Amino acid sequence: MLQAQLTIDPAHRVAPVRPRTFGTFVEHLGRCVYTGIYEPGHPTADEEGFRGDVLALTRELGVTTVRYPGGNFVSGYRWEDGIGPRERRPRRLDLAWHSTETNEIGVDEFVRWTRLAGLEPMMAVNLGTRGVQEALDLLEYCNIPSGTAWSDLRVANGAKEPHNIRMWCLGNEMDGPWQIGHKTAREYGRLAAETARAMRMIDPGLELVACGSSGSSMPTFGTWEATVLEETYDLVDLISCHAYYEEKNGDLAGFLACAADMEHFISTVVSTADQVGAKLGSSKKISVSFDEWNVWYMSRFQSAPPPPDWPVAPRLLEDHYHLADAVALGTLIITLLRHSDRVAAACLAQLVNVIAPIMTEPGGRAWRQTTFHPFAQAARHAKGEVLRVEPVCPSYETAEFGRVPVLHAVATRDEADTVLFAVNRSVSDPVELELDARALGPVRIAEATTLADEDVYARNTADDPDRVIPRPNTSHRSDPLKIVLPPVSWNVIRLARA
Ligand code: AHR
Repeated sequence: MLQAQLTIDPAHRVAPVRPRTFGTFVEHLGRCVYTGIYEPGHPTADEEGFRGDVLALTRELGVTTVRYPGGNFVSGYRWEDGIGPRERRPRRLDLAWHSTETNEIGVDEFVRWTRLAGLEPMMAVNLGTRGVQEALDLLEYCNIPSGTAWSDLRVANGAKEPHNIRMWCLGNEMDGPWQIGHKTAREYGRLAAETARAMRMIDPGLELVACGSSGSSMPTFGTWEATVLEETYDLVDLISCHAYYEEKNGDLAGFLACAADMEHFISTVVSTADQVGAKLGSSKKISVSFDEWNVWYMSRFQSAPPPPDWPVAPRLLEDHYHLADAVALGTLIITLLRHSDRVAAACLAQLVNVIAPIMTEPGGRAWRQTTFHPFAQAARHAKGEVLRVEPVCPSYETAEFGRVPVLHAVATRDEADTVLFAVNRSVSDPVELELDARALGPVRIAEATTLADEDVYARNTADDPDRVIPRPNTSHRSDPLKIVLPPVSWNVIRLARA
């Protein structure tokens, strides 16, 4: 048994918990939209075709914001294709995912779905094949109450009230050569600046996100952010980060250390942004929108040949997550919370079927993947202020991410409770954790749950949806406060007044 100690002190405040940390992402990709959130004729579908089972799971997941409609998809998207009478909407080739887009769902339906789910929509504009004018048209369509051509068209299409979308992404992953309309940092920075400037002429209060890097291993990482922010600093509020991780070559211990890359990613982007701000003599601070993050077995996807045809809603990126994936995802949530001073928004990519916490069968059941649970627990319990905690514990060496501590943790605290989120990364040993919570006054462990399994590759399926779920951890005792965290586990420990 490994030994660890950790101090929780309300003085170690990082920032308030940001509700937008618990965003996700709905892209027109594979079965995320079609047979995901939308499937007319499904037994649980409402009169608009939205699946009731997926809506219920989305609410249970605790999602706050949803980014839409892409992703790579947005860089070839004509948003006007998705409005008006369905029978007149064109079918188009989706070059990003080698599919056919039927346009049955567009911005009006998506916004209606977010209202049903109780979410904030976050919209991306196409800066791949399109530019300033199309972004302005979409903004006018969405946010102007009425009295102009585009806003009156929205009203005529059945949306009497404006959609009032506050957060807008200026394109997607424009640093990536796979992106339709891929650009250099200078080209993109100029276009993003002009788009932002014009959008602010309609509404100066919008929150605008410039594209940062698609990963910390991109050859332009760092210089991309610097150049883009030189062009856009006064015009945008946030810069995006995207990161996906997977277990490689059977190195589970290495995979469980992936949050070290996310930590490095965030710190580098924040320093780069601050350096640009300093050069410009600006007191403004740019925030991070980590608007794509997840476990994704991308290497399997990249080795699959493209289909010979252009299918509608094919099965793409349907990763089937196991316990260890959920624990790795837990370390990423902890990292986002630990950086709440600068990470103002984040989106788990994606919501349904496509590298997703929620899976569906067409015409059939919906269930929670293993990764659903750490996200849902954090969204439910992370309230109030984020507190920094630094476990004193053994560490281990990894080939990809260097030396990492066995425990990764963060705490949050509101008037009622203090909650500790902790991952034991050890693939072999339980950790006995001693908590020094004296600064909180007399407290006890009121509730503790653990997500773990004897088989770290155990998965949930439609037939066995609760194989991997958080279960009570009864190993704790008081005076001193101690609890045992099993190997490869995600743990939520709630402290209340004794
Ligand atoms: O989330 C899947 C894809 O990953 C997105 O479309 C793209 O932005 C990223 O490369």
